[in-house]
Amino acid sequence: MILFSKLSKKIYRVVGMGSKLVGCGSAAPKLLISNNDLAQIVETSDEWISVRTGIRNRRVLTGNETVSGLAVEAAKGALQMAQVEPDDIDLVIMCTSTPDDLFGCGARVQRDLGCKNAWAFDATAACSGFVVGLITATRFIKGGGFQNVLVIGADALSRYVDWTDRGTCILFGDAAGAVLVQACSHDEDGLLGFDLHSDGHGQKHLNAIAKDEQTELILNNNGAPLFPPKRSSYSCIQMNGKEVFRFAVRCVPQSIEAALDKAGLTSSSIDWLLLHQANQRIMDAVATRLQMPPDKIISNLAGYGNTSAASIPLALDEAVRSGKVKDGNTIAAAGFGAGLTWGSAIVRWK
Ligand code: ACO
Repeated sequence: MILFSKLSKKIYRVVGMGSKLVGCGSAAPKLLISNNDLAQIVETSDEWISVRTGIRNRRVLTGNETVSGLAVEAAKGALQMAQVEPDDIDLVIMCTSTPDDLFGCGARVQRDLGCKNAWAFDATAACSGFVVGLITATRFIKGGGFQNVLVIGADALSRYVDWTDRGTCILFGDAAGAVLVQACSHDEDGLLGFDLHSDGHGQKHLNAIAKDEQTELILNNNGAPLFPPKRSSYSCIQMNGKEVFRFAVRCVPQSIEAALDKAGLTSSSIDWLLLHQANQRIMDAVATRLQMPPDKIISNLAGYGNTSAASIPLALDEAVRSGKVKDGNTIAAAGFGAGLTWGSAIVRWK
């Protein structure tokens, strides 16, 4: 099957149906908070946190740093690696649950990157956000004839952490990661299989719900009360860690197996397991269920904690730049988190 795609402005040309990852980048805030720092504000220890989670440090937004700023820095890294100009980007997908603006910050990121020929939108699927964005990008390429799509995962969950709750404040950090997804021939297609799910029954286990406060009554022209408007904000992250742990260990291997099945592959043909970086014990358990050796797990959780939608592209970027992930390697990536949402993508790097 052949599609007609929009080239830079109004020129159309025939393109293939494949899409491949051609660049990545990442960014993190300057301030580093160690486990020992947290032990000064809640009753915990470096040992407890590192043994139970694998986390040692996390980065936290301060001063003028913003989610959009991190996203732009990460996206610039991806553009540079891919040697693609901002003008050649057709779409920016900003995967975030913590935008700087209630209405989203994808368009602002697009502006700041100078992607004049692109349009942008925000996608919210918590820690599954990047996988959702990545698959969405490939659909726009496959079905819409787009050439270059930037997928950015960026979050600052520190904004919604209760720093007095030791059950959650030890887990999260802020960061951004980005990949550039590019159209290619069907033969070169780098998205080999995918699988996506959500189940709102599990929302009770992990959420940051809108809090409504009533403000003064709005009066009509005659001074009579018309209605009590709401002024809303979000409460801090509430989590039942044990339930989320169980859900991840049960659903993520099933999802990866479903994606592998669609790709016609088995876990033995996968070079790297790249999971949402939530807990090292979850990553180890998923690898065991998939019968993958621990040295195939990509993990940078120790340095950043759980950075939500940023965690997969951030870890990918570090693994690519350190030479661990090489051209042609096959990666099983999976995100999971609030919603509940979860999903997997089997991708080839370049
Ligand atoms: N330091 C010391 N002790 C602690 C801490 C802490 N930071 N936190 C909890 N404890 C205590 C508890 O009070 C409890 O004490 P008790 O036995 O006296 O009651 C004990 O340690 C065990 O607590 P659990 O909550 O049962 O600990 P668990 O082994 O389940 O680990 C953890 C908790 C790390 C949160 C784990 O459940 C986990 O990682 N869950 C998955 C979280 C996750 O993946 N979230 C994804 C979110 S992604 C998104 O969408 C935002």
